[in-house]
Amino acid sequence: MNIRPDKGQQILLLGSGGREHAIAWKLARSRRCTRLFIAPGNAGTAACGQNVALNPLDFDSVGAFCLDNNISMLVVGPEEPLVKGIWDYFQENEALKNIPVIGPSKAGAVLEGSKAWSKQFMQRHNIPTAGYREFTGENVQEGLKYLKNQPLPIVLKADGLAAGKGVVICQRHDEAERELQEMLGGKFGSAGHRVVVEEFLSGIEFSVFVLTDGKNYKILPEAKDYKRIGEGDTGPNTGGMGAVSPVPFADEIMWQKVEERIIRPTIKGLRKEKIPYKGFIFFGLIKVGDEPWVIEYNCRMGDPETEVVMPRLKNDLVTLFENCAKGTLGRVKIRTDKRVAATIFLVSGGYPGDYEKGKIISGLEKVKGSIAFHAGTAGKGDAVLTSGGRVIAMTSYGKDLPAALRKSKRNAKLVAFEGKYYRKDIGKDLTAG
Ligand code: AMP
Ligand code: GLY
Repeated sequence: MNIRPDKGQQILLLGSGGREHAIAWKLARSRRCTRLFIAPGNAGTAACGQNVALNPLDFDSVGAFCLDNNISMLVVGPEEPLVKGIWDYFQENEALKNIPVIGPSKAGAVLEGSKAWSKQFMQRHNIPTAGYREFTGENVQEGLKYLKNQPLPIVLKADGLAAGKGVVICQRHDEAERELQEMLGGKFGSAGHRVVVEEFLSGIEFSVFVLTDGKNYKILPEAKDYKRIGEGDTGPNTGGMGAVSPVPFADEIMWQKVEERIIRPTIKGLRKEKIPYKGFIFFGLIKVGDEPWVIEYNCRMGDPETEVVMPRLKNDLVTLFENCAKGTLGRVKIRTDKRVAATIFLVSGGYPGDYEKGKIISGLEKVKGSIAFHAGTAGKGDAVLTSGGRVIAMTSYGKDLPAALRKSKRNAKLVAFEGKYYRKDIGKDLTAG
């Protein structure tokens, strides 16, 4: 293991979203970070380190860059390189295997990469999750028959990665039958060649994040995100329109249940099944009555949750990652900022449908009292242009949620680009009145 006790770390962070800007922001604040590269990054990460034009899925180029630049730690932001096995690629290469990779092995990333596998894992380890069946092209008739007898709504999930679009909640039987046929017929490409049909759970969702070294784990501040485009959580699903941390309904008793029934059995299960995992686990949970259930696992941090989690994490992130790599997370105590953090995403007009890119973003220099985390932005000379659907996550601290939200809204108004849209009701469901 190539931990450099005296020299600090030369880090390469993969990714280009708001999550990566928040991670880069946090890494750059560490005295243990001597050099930070972000690949490919965005206009915001360029202020935390050096952006490099590398495709995170081109493992040969990532590996070569690490060797050429004396990288001592690789931090993987998004799921795709993990699901495609970047950890294993580094492990299997003599020259790269001493560089710690923060992120699970391919066998661990399957927690997110295959919904069917993750359901089977939860069943094997008695982790509370909705009842389900799996179907493929081989038993589609059985699937259609099964659907007819299920209570509504019913949830259909493409097994593989489908860019956040692979979950469909059906309100009618004919709709569910059509959806099953379309998914198995290739609507989501090979991701849908296996479909999980699952019971609908009704409750309030929240996101729990853990950093594990495969044996020990540390719980990071929790968050709640707001997935739909419209006010009052209506309209199509997005990558996330805002987030808040902490989540008021996650009280002591809830945490105890989450830890005992969900987190601990997950970490133990991975260990028992000899699955190498040194990285983040994102537990997508739902509180039904007073009980927590798992909706999904992700093998990475959430976005926009990271934009409120990192600001509330007081620990040095590089030190956390060093302990993660060494297997000594047990020594660490997580310290959390008592303040509330809230983020509101400014998005391109038309998102999550078609939208235009390349709009000039102005007013970023006027932002005061908030952190403008960049997502879909690109620098062009001195200008910052939009380059994606979600553009800027405006994060603020506050003594309470209304105070944090007020600051984010005030600064959201100061940043301008053609077609800008944001939800004005983020966090409203959690504040009295
Ligand atoms: P996923 O892609 O697994 O995160 O699912 C997307 C969203 O679909 C979740 O965040 C939930 O809002 C919803 N969802 C997924 N599974 C269920 C379920 N069993 N019951 C109710 N809602 C669900
Ligand atoms: N905010 C949900 C996700 O990152 O998947």
